Amino acid sequence: MKFIICENPAELGEIVSELILDQIRYNPSSKLCIPTGSTPIPAYQHLVQKVKALDFDISHVHFYNLDEYLGLPRDHEQSYQTFLSQQVLDPLEIKASHRHLLRSDNPNPQEECIRNNKEIDEIKCFDLFMDGIGENGHIAFNEPATYFEARTHIADISESTRIANARFFSSLDEVPKQAISVGFEDIMKSKMIILVATGAKKAPVIKKLISETNITCDFPISFLRMHNNVTIVLDKLACGSCLDQLT
Ligand code: F6R
Repeated sequence: MKFIICENPAELGEIVSELILDQIRYNPSSKLCIPTGSTPIPAYQHLVQKVKALDFDISHVHFYNLDEYLGLPRDHEQSYQTFLSQQVLDPLEIKASHRHLLRSDNPNPQEECIRNNKEIDEIKCFDLFMDGIGENGHIAFNEPATYFEARTHIADISESTRIANARFFSSLDEVPKQAISVGFEDIMKSKMIILVATGAKKAPVIKKLISETNITCDFPISFLRMHNNVTIVLDKLACGSCLDQLT
């Protein structure tokens, strides 16, 4: 695992947007699987600014989302489709055929998982899988568990993640209890993985990632120790007491 340490979230946004642009320069038809959440927002803002300032051709890139709440209307203000549309896809004017989004309102979620797996099978793997890091080490909605589903699946959202995400809703009761999430098989098949984390709340999970070496379903991010191209971009607060070790 390679670590990049940034002064603050703004610098992280700058660096991560460059990593994404490098991937697109390398392969203009890149298949990018990208997250929601607070942490990637500065990266998306920089990405949009740079694409516009450089008149960068992004028209061949395909975008996938890695997870989606279940049971929300697709145009709900907290659906991940709404988030990605507002932050990335609409500002970059990505055409509909290049937006591969999970459907939160499919009345048959199992069918939605199968549909998503077929979309992934068509491309074989993501060129870039990017995600934030859950305070409990979750990746997408692969929460600490006794086993992992390999592919896209219906996931129960842990209580601690629901509490962490309640800041986006008016009450905890409104936070969905289930989501659709890509599974570890497709995450691990990705050619490159970028993880981002900022703020002191992420320091304990980063410390655990650095100080332990085992691979366990109790700590989903630990599986990424087996991937050979993972870059973790952190700000100084997320490094916490590991700052000296990481710089
Ligand atoms: C988001 C996702 C989650 C978040 C994680 C961190 O699509 O899959 O794994 O990346 O919960 O969220 P933030 O960035 O809000 O701290």
